[in-house]
Amino acid sequence: MYVCICHAVTEKDIQKAIANGASSVAMLSESTSLGTQCGHCTDHAHAMISKCGRQCP
Ligand code: FES
Repeated sequence: MYVCICHAVTEKDIQKAIANGASSVAMLSESTSLGTQCGHCTDHAHAMISKCGRQCP
């Protein structure tokens, strides 16, 4: 599922970025460009960072 429509960033892309050390929306933005256009995706991305810190593969 796409989280960031503007930059075609999927949940899997975000999980991969988190696995590679991204721990904030700013770090996700650096590696994927997520949130750098309309910004509507940042709440979902933030929620994924919080959740994946504890239980994502
Ligand atoms: S949906 Fe992510 S910047 Fe627009």
